[in-house]
Amino acid sequence: MSTALVTGASAGIGRAFAERLAHDGLDVVLVARDRARLERLAAELRERYGVATEVLVADLADRAQTQEVCHRLADEDRPVEVLVNNAGLGQQHPFLDNEIRREEAALDVMVRAVLLTCHAAGRAMRARGSGRIVNVSSVASFTTSGPYSAAKSYVTVLSEALAGQLAGTGVTVTVVCPGLTRSEFHERARMSLPGVPRGLWLDADEVARQGLADAAAGRVVSVPGPQWKALSLAVRMAPRPLVRGAGTRLVERLRGRR
Ligand SMILES: NC(=O)c1ccc[n+]([C@@H]2O[C@H](COP(=O)([O-])OP(=O)(O)OC[C@H]3O[C@@H](n4cnc5c(N)ncnc54)[C@H](OP(=O)(O)O)[C@@H]3O)[C@@H](O)[C@H]2O)c1
Repeated sequence: MSTALVTGASAGIGRAFAERLAHDGLDVVLVARDRARLERLAAELRERYGVATEVLVADLADRAQTQEVCHRLADEDRPVEVLVNNAGLGQQHPFLDNEIRREEAALDVMVRAVLLTCHAAGRAMRARGSGRIVNVSSVASFTTSGPYSAAKSYVTVLSEALAGQLAGTGVTVTVVCPGLTRSEFHERARMSLPGVPRGLWLDADEVARQGLADAAAGRVVSVPGPQWKALSLAVRMAPRPLVRGAGTRLVERLRGRR
């Protein structure tokens, strides 16, 4: 029986990844800060799918706690075959109005923790000659919508680079770039999204299903949903000044200024 470790498993897209992996028969290691939610999910997955579960409480903005996750990934006696790096967050205020410690914490979760866990898991998987790394980025990684886009660009580029470095080793790396997805993300960041067409929204389950299917097929970049595939292609082909203008307007709109 294989084991998967999912960060940000207590809610939203991460929870959906954990459910689908358990559905597919993998044991799961659930990582996030909220112990009660993780334990409830662990009990549910054990009951429903008969898999083994572990709860690993960690604040990924904290270097020492992130190191504990890395130790778990490097543990050769309990190999982790699938790593899903999913934990992430938006901000409640625009960059220059925000407290810098909040921006730093977000960077630590979405960049430093991804770097450290990819390094730990990548080495262990390469030594075993098998494994799968799935990093959750965003279509925002193709745009210029503030530090969040910059952090997600890092995730996308790191994943593409690592996929190249690990080619032929039996280890694959897939970066999943969802568009707007129903989860707790926007509420936590107090983003209002009036007027977003219903057809643009994705379900977390669909993101997880498509992301894992693309990872199984060895795809490096996964953009779930035909609407977001088309939009992200348009963004990647568009002249950068146009992308910058649209990025600025989008941030203002998400902040409810327009
Ligand atoms: N929703 C969207 O529209 C959307 C679109 C594109 C990409 N994404 C990306 O998808 C990923 C999942 O987001 P979501 O939409 O599922 O959001 P969500 O429902 O708010 O879930 C976020 C998850 O991340 C965990 N997390 C946040 N800060 C953490 C920290 N310091 N340490 C450990 N875990 C932490 C949360 O758990 P605890 O609070 O228990 O720690 C929670 O499990 C993120 O990387 C996000 O950037 C989301």
